[in-house]
Amino acid sequence: MAKTKTVFFCTSCGAESPKWLGRCPSCNEWNTYTEEKISRPAGSRSHPGSHGRMPELVSDIKSGDEPRIKLHGSEFNRILGGGLVPGSVILIGGEPGIGKSTLALQVALHTPEVKTLYISGEESSRQIKLRADRIGRDDGNCYILCETGLESITGHLNNLKPRLVIVDSIQTLHTDHIDSPAGSVSQIRESAGQLLRYAKESSVPVLLIGHITKEGGLAGPKVLEHIVDVVLQFEGDHNHQYRVLRSLKNRFGSTSEIGLYEMQGDGLREVDNPSEILIADHHESVSGVAISAMVDGIRPFLVEIQALVSSAVYGNPQRSSTGFDLRRLSMLLAVLEKRAGFRLASKDVFLNVAGGLKVTDPATDLAVISAVLSSDTDLPVAQDTCFAGEVGLSGEIRPVGRLQQRIGEAQKMGFKNIVISSFHKKDALPEGHKINVIRCGKIEHLCRLLFKTGG
Ligand code: TYD
Ligand code: MG
Repeated sequence: MAKTKTVFFCTSCGAESPKWLGRCPSCNEWNTYTEEKISRPAGSRSHPGSHGRMPELVSDIKSGDEPRIKLHGSEFNRILGGGLVPGSVILIGGEPGIGKSTLALQVALHTPEVKTLYISGEESSRQIKLRADRIGRDDGNCYILCETGLESITGHLNNLKPRLVIVDSIQTLHTDHIDSPAGSVSQIRESAGQLLRYAKESSVPVLLIGHITKEGGLAGPKVLEHIVDVVLQFEGDHNHQYRVLRSLKNRFGSTSEIGLYEMQGDGLREVDNPSEILIADHHESVSGVAISAMVDGIRPFLVEIQALVSSAVYGNPQRSSTGFDLRRLSMLLAVLEKRAGFRLASKDVFLNVAGGLKVTDPATDLAVISAVLSSDTDLPVAQDTCFAGEVGLSGEIRPVGRLQQRIGEAQKMGFKNIVISSFHKKDALPEGHKINVIRCGKIEHLCRLLFKTGG
């Protein structure tokens, strides 16, 4: 007979306790314990060593040379480190409506040589068909299953024997072993654990789609992120069509890769040359615009930073920023005020990164300061100049990493000048570069330099 017991789970880290606790002793979060009922079939408790595998010598284990499964689309393959590793479990998280289901279905439809089972607990098969029609291309090797019970899913997996499984989403699955509702900590933990076992035993990769919480983290216990092999985050601004797929954890590749997509009427399109779309075409010079040669992960691209500085109408000047850290902007404004004598305390400052992109690269500082100065003085920065440098509290311009890639990208995009820190060593520059490199050590000098080039 099945035994039912009540346990309490921490919704943040998945820790288990027989009684309610105000503060989780494992992750120190307050008020995260929830009550759940679990029923385990009698006799299901496993004893370590009673069954299963025997220890093996490393030298005796056959190294799996199973080739990675190449998916259609170079961005997705690159993020995974060169294709899907057989038996791996991949978790994709992202805000609702950002395009997770579209991405997963597109991967399945565009790779007809791989037999795929797309399990959806969120949409009906008709809805998925509608989406598939929008994406276009149905090569007849993608099966849809609208089901949430894990036991029935396992049965279908054994019958159909797909080569790739997609689960949309892990929060909708439930297993009969546990009495709590789908989406609860114990259900997510158990379902993910079973799918993980399936993946490892059958060498079939499993792609899980996960919801995220209000705070932006993946919903469900942290253990979910620990047990999967790859964690990807799909992010972007709903008002813009650009989406970034970022790797947060990857057991088989680097986590510094990003993929750029554009959401279109017929699915997601890969963006091969991001710089081209992130720089607006200005026919004449306008003030308040500066181009930053930035790097996200290991990928260099050029992005336009726009600033507007105007006199504050009300007593309190406003500072507002889209895509750039507001506190960092305040710091840069304070540095400008203190070190370069610009009176910005009584002015409103608005900052915007083009394309709805979020920028965290410190090398963007120099472009931000240049855009603010340009708007404040109403003098445009020369259109063929871009920037890469971090600004320190004493107003010094500090060297940044991956300079060669930044210069390479700027050159490729036809820029004639790039402003960098004067503290870069000579050999940091790529050999035989054609672009004119302007070195600058302090922001006081930047002002002179900007409006000599920009005037
Ligand atoms: P969806 O994949 O349902 O998001 P998620 O699974 O992350 O919740 O994406 C839905 C959005 O994408 C929706 O607003 C419509 C838009 N969309 C397009 O713009 N073009 C398309 O071809 C498709 C399929 C969706
Ligand atoms: Mg969805």
